[in-house]
Amino acid sequence: MTENLWRSTIQHLDPYIPGQAAKDAENQGNLKEVVRLATNENPHGPSPKAIASMQKAILEGHFYPDLTSLALRKKLGSIHGIDPENYCIGNGADNIITLVIASYVNPGEEVVYCTPTFSEYHKNTLLVGGTPIEIPTTKDYKFDLEAMLEAITEKTKLVIVCNPNNPTGTIVDDKELRAFFRRLPRKVVAVLDEAYGEFISVPNYSTGVEYVKEGLPVITIRTFSKLYGLAGMRVGYAFAKDELIRPLQAVREPFACNRVAEAGAVAALEDEDYKEKVLRENSKEMEKMIKAFRALGCSVEETHTNFLFIDMKKDTAIIANELFSKGFFIRPCAAWGYPEHARITIGSAENNDRLIQHLQEIMTETSYQL
Ligand SMILES: Cc1ncc(COP(=O)(O)O)c(C=O)c1O
Repeated sequence: MTENLWRSTIQHLDPYIPGQAAKDAENQGNLKEVVRLATNENPHGPSPKAIASMQKAILEGHFYPDLTSLALRKKLGSIHGIDPENYCIGNGADNIITLVIASYVNPGEEVVYCTPTFSEYHKNTLLVGGTPIEIPTTKDYKFDLEAMLEAITEKTKLVIVCNPNNPTGTIVDDKELRAFFRRLPRKVVAVLDEAYGEFISVPNYSTGVEYVKEGLPVITIRTFSKLYGLAGMRVGYAFAKDELIRPLQAVREPFACNRVAEAGAVAALEDEDYKEKVLRENSKEMEKMIKAFRALGCSVEETHTNFLFIDMKKDTAIIANELFSKGFFIRPCAAWGYPEHARITIGSAENNDRLIQHLQEIMTETSYQL
């Protein structure tokens, strides 16, 4: 047998498997159409202003983008009231997660977070030779901040809080989160993944913006893939106080955010009306879908995101396969250890109705009856 030449720390890693990509589906199932409800994309697309701005930027595609995405950092700075110097713009939040972990975690150091959560924390920790310390979420699927504090040892370097959490959609109490950050030992850095942060509608709820302004040891991560509908363009960012953001800026590859993506992100931030429209539509459809899932006998709670975490009370792999044959992609949660749960993106009103109609048919067939 050929000797395995891979680095020992990555020998057990598998490639990231996203929600079924449309292309694969076309090849595998010869489907006429594909409704993507497995990857939490924005069903309404980017803002028309972002599209116009990106189209213009393509004409300058022969020029490198700005090295550090200054225009986007300035725009974010003016919106959040945080100095442009305190941002790091990357090729999606995935890229930022890689940068944070590569910047902070030495081989043998521990990274503490709860599960189920976003899989990239695990992969990137292994990649640098760190040790993932995975704590179960609470019974109501929230990050267990007390248990995370108890899990901190001499070896802990990072703690990661995904808030709202993916795949559960839950948020922690913000006062408890602030207290958690304050109680961290000085040598531990906190990462707050707010990929879905813009969907939180709890009045006066504190986010990473407030924590960073208060000088807490928190690196906040955000993305343009969800609310802003730019998943295909790949723009994500981190912000933190000087000494915490600096290593990310040093490790970041030059030109990480391409010219078209940066133009789209800046214009998307300027289009407040479109953002509000997407948020309104999302909460209206979420309410409708919760009622519909409950009528099907499923257990589901409102989330603070653009997806639902649903206890379907049946093997969701089977249901997902049936839906797949009709061109609808959802995310079964078996890989997270929840074989009867599904994570389903809130789609357009029309596709949501069609999904429920398909589910009614699938679930009333004898073999799937609840
Ligand atoms: C919690 C969380 N963080 C980060 C990301 C990565 O987002 P991006 O598309 O910006 O790489 C995702 C994507 O689904 C996510 O759910």
